[in-house]
Amino acid sequence: MSSLSAVAPKNSIGSTFDIAKIRQDFPILNQSIKGRPLVYLDNAATTQKPQVVIDAISQFYGNSNANVHRGAHSLSDNATELFEHARTKVQGLINAKKSHEIIWTKGTTEAINIIASGLAQSILKPGDEILISAMEHHANIVPWQMAAQRSGAKLVVAPINKQGELNFSAYKKLLNKNTAIVAMTHVSNTLGTINPVKEIVQLAKQVGAITVIDGAQAIAHSTVDVQQLDCDFYVFSGHKLFGPTGIGVLYGKEQRLEQLPPFQTGGEMIKTVSFQQATWNELPYKFEAGTPNIAGAVGLGAAIDYFNSIDRVGAMRHEQRLLDHCLVLAEGMDDIELYGTAKNKTAIVSFLLGDAHPSDVGTLLNQQGVAVRTGHHCTMPLMNELGIAGTVRASFSLYNTEEEVAILFAALTKVKSFL
Ligand code: ALA
Repeated sequence: MSSLSAVAPKNSIGSTFDIAKIRQDFPILNQSIKGRPLVYLDNAATTQKPQVVIDAISQFYGNSNANVHRGAHSLSDNATELFEHARTKVQGLINAKKSHEIIWTKGTTEAINIIASGLAQSILKPGDEILISAMEHHANIVPWQMAAQRSGAKLVVAPINKQGELNFSAYKKLLNKNTAIVAMTHVSNTLGTINPVKEIVQLAKQVGAITVIDGAQAIAHSTVDVQQLDCDFYVFSGHKLFGPTGIGVLYGKEQRLEQLPPFQTGGEMIKTVSFQQATWNELPYKFEAGTPNIAGAVGLGAAIDYFNSIDRVGAMRHEQRLLDHCLVLAEGMDDIELYGTAKNKTAIVSFLLGDAHPSDVGTLLNQQGVAVRTGHHCTMPLMNELGIAGTVRASFSLYNTEEEVAILFAALTKVKSFL
């Protein structure tokens, strides 16, 4: 790839964000696809991993691998310490009050399933309402549909406007004394819309609803403070935060987690077992049945250290500049229709190019080294609302460059000439 520093945005005064240096931290970026430099714009699906994360996982298996919480030996003690230390790193990242409010899961989807299934068993009753929004992805819809079916509750959907923003007055009107749960995304994976989650939570609390925030797309692009948000639950996946796949986080307020029944049983989540009954371990272990993803937790801990080591404000500004640059280039292009033009949004750009099928556009972009996602992005109901089957989605991360934005649009111009 040609010199990045030449095209890197000028740092604002006081910023230490250095894009050229950041890119060197991610070895995968330095490669060619189809003879062209890789331009990786599928960060909403998963982010790439810095060398420090790759090393932490390798070192764990090379030096410290053992099962946690149960060995009478030093390796197990060491693995347990690394595993629990990673939990406190998550606690610090999202400012949870207590480390036992952090539950390890496989990812966002499993976390929402744990919450929805537990609330269906313990709290929900016929006549209750579960309020979601029209921009949710399947993982924040289907578990609630199941919970509604199991409990007799009803799923209610708050609409969005033409820009892809939550229709806030409709949301307010839908809240009522039957609203038992409000489950909403912090950032839309398809549209990039940043929802006003603090206000959403505040209003939900006024009717006594439990609040669940899906932070999968927000965690790598903002600062999350769960005490400030005051939500009951906040969930995210490690792999969208430069960590490994197969590890994620369920944050819950202590009192809510105490009330929630376990999702899976067996292993460390048990306190006592007889053939007649079992009692549950204390938090957080009550929700961590079986051998956990220890290396995954250690890798996520390293990703959090990495994330904390960079100039986060500079990184967010950089991502916003990439978005602005994209929007300017899109404006100058005929035949491109953007989906998701919220005032407050992350660098996720969903679009259609004339009447070209998104997967054709994706294939032709890939021929030019540009990796995007195409299709419904696990948001089929949102696609129905928009009246389309799918989009092409370019999603940016802090290691992308303005030069890459330009490459995307040059590649799209070529795509147009092919179609
Ligand atoms: N929900 C993830 C995405 O948007 C998988 O790509």
